[in-house]
Amino acid sequence: MITYSSFFSRVAENQQGSAIRKMGVMALRDPDLISFAPGYPDPATFAWEAFREISADVLGSRDSTTLQYGPTRGLPNLIDAIVHIAADRGIKTTSENVMVTTGSQQGLDLLGRILVDPGDVVLVELPAYTGALAAFRNAGAALVGVRQEEDGIDMDDLDAVVERERLAGRRVKFLYVVPNFQNPTGLLISQAKRRRLLEWAGQRNVLIVEDDPYGSLYFEDSATVAETRPIKADDTEGRVVYLSSFSKTLAPGFRVAWVIAGEPLIAKLDVTKQTQDLFTGALDQRIVFEAWKRGVLERQVVKLRGHYQQKRDVMERSLAAGLGDLVTWPEPRGGFFLWVALPRHVSADDLLPRAIEHKVIYVAGSAFFVDGSGRSLMRLSFSLPPIPRIEEGIRRLTELVKEEVSRHPESVGT
Ligand SMILES: Cc1ncc(COP(=O)(O)O)c(C=O)c1O
Repeated sequence: MITYSSFFSRVAENQQGSAIRKMGVMALRDPDLISFAPGYPDPATFAWEAFREISADVLGSRDSTTLQYGPTRGLPNLIDAIVHIAADRGIKTTSENVMVTTGSQQGLDLLGRILVDPGDVVLVELPAYTGALAAFRNAGAALVGVRQEEDGIDMDDLDAVVERERLAGRRVKFLYVVPNFQNPTGLLISQAKRRRLLEWAGQRNVLIVEDDPYGSLYFEDSATVAETRPIKADDTEGRVVYLSSFSKTLAPGFRVAWVIAGEPLIAKLDVTKQTQDLFTGALDQRIVFEAWKRGVLERQVVKLRGHYQQKRDVMERSLAAGLGDLVTWPEPRGGFFLWVALPRHVSADDLLPRAIEHKVIYVAGSAFFVDGSGRSLMRLSFSLPPIPRIEEGIRRLTELVKEEVSRHPESVGT
C-alpha cells in the first residue's frame, strides 16, 4: 500500500474528526449502548405518513423540477416559504436575501470560506457548537473564546477580547452565537443582551453569525416565544447572518436549511456553494416545501414541544433522584440538551471510557471549549432515546459518577 501523507493538503492534515459523530456511529453498532451523545431528533416523531403522501404526490406529478438540476440558491417556492417562516420569527426579509443550504452545517462551512482568511479571528462562546468550530477552523480561523454568563455572552469579556486581538494586529471578522437553547448548554441569550450585542457589533464593526436551529422548539407557554426573537429581527443594517434548519423540526435526513444575509454575502455564498454541490437535493427541497405548504411543519413543532419537554422532564427527574446532591445544570427551556456540571475533580473525559463499559455515552464538555477548559462538564442529549432508556441511561450514569466520587471524596461539595 502506498503512503498518502505526502499527498495530503495542509487542511486535510490538520483536520479533526468530530468526536460526536464518532460516538453516533458507536451507538448504532451496539444496540445495548444508551446514547446521550449526538443531538439527533427522535425518529418516532417524524411525520412518516405525511412524507409518504407528499413523496408520492411530487414524484407522481412528474414535475421536472423535482428531479432536475436546480438553482444554487434553492427552489424559488421554498425560498418564498422561508421568507414567511422568517416573518413568523420577526425577521423581515426578501427572497434576494435567502439561500437554501445542504444543512446549516454547509452554511457554516460556506461562511468560513467567504469570511475568513487564515489567522483572522472568529469569536466563539465558551462553550460553542463543535460543528461550527470545525468549519471555521478548517477555514484557518483563529478561534477565540468569550466567557458566558447565565443570560448569554459576557459583554465585558467580549469587548476586552476584541480590544486585545486588535491590539495584537489581528482582524476580528465575526462573532458566532446560538442564542436559542444553545448547543451544548441549552441557554437562552436574554433579549436585553441580544440588543446590546447588536449595538456592540455596530460600534466595533464586527459581523454576527446567528445560528438558530432550535428556536421553535421551546417548551413553555407563549411567553417564551418573545424570548426567542432572533437578533436578526432587529438588524437594520445587514450586520447579522442568520442560519436555521429543518433538521430538528422535520428531519435531518432531508439536509435542507437556510441562510439569511445581505445580498452581497448571498452572492458570494452562491458562487462558493456552486463548487461544493451545485445545489441542495431538489427532491428534499420539494418535500420540505410541501410539508410547509400543507401545514405539516406547523403541526409538527407543536407536537415536538410537548414531546421533548416530557423527555427533558424525565431526564431531569432521573438525574435529580440519582445525582441531585452531586451535579448541577441550568434548566433548558427548549432544545435537546442538558449541560451537566460534575463535581470539580471529576473529569468527564476520563470518565468516558468507563461510561462506554457501562453502556452509556455522552459528550465530554471539553469538546466545546476552544481554551481547553470544561473538563468537569458533560452534554447529555435527551432528544433521541425513548423514555425508559433515558431512565436506564441515567441510572447507569448515576452508578458511574457515584463510583468515581467515592474514589475522590475530596471533590464533593466543590
Ligand atoms: C447549533 C447547531 N448548528 C448547526 C447544526 C447543523 O444542523 P444541520 O442538520 O442543519 O446541518 C446543528 C446540529 O446539531 C446545531 O446544533
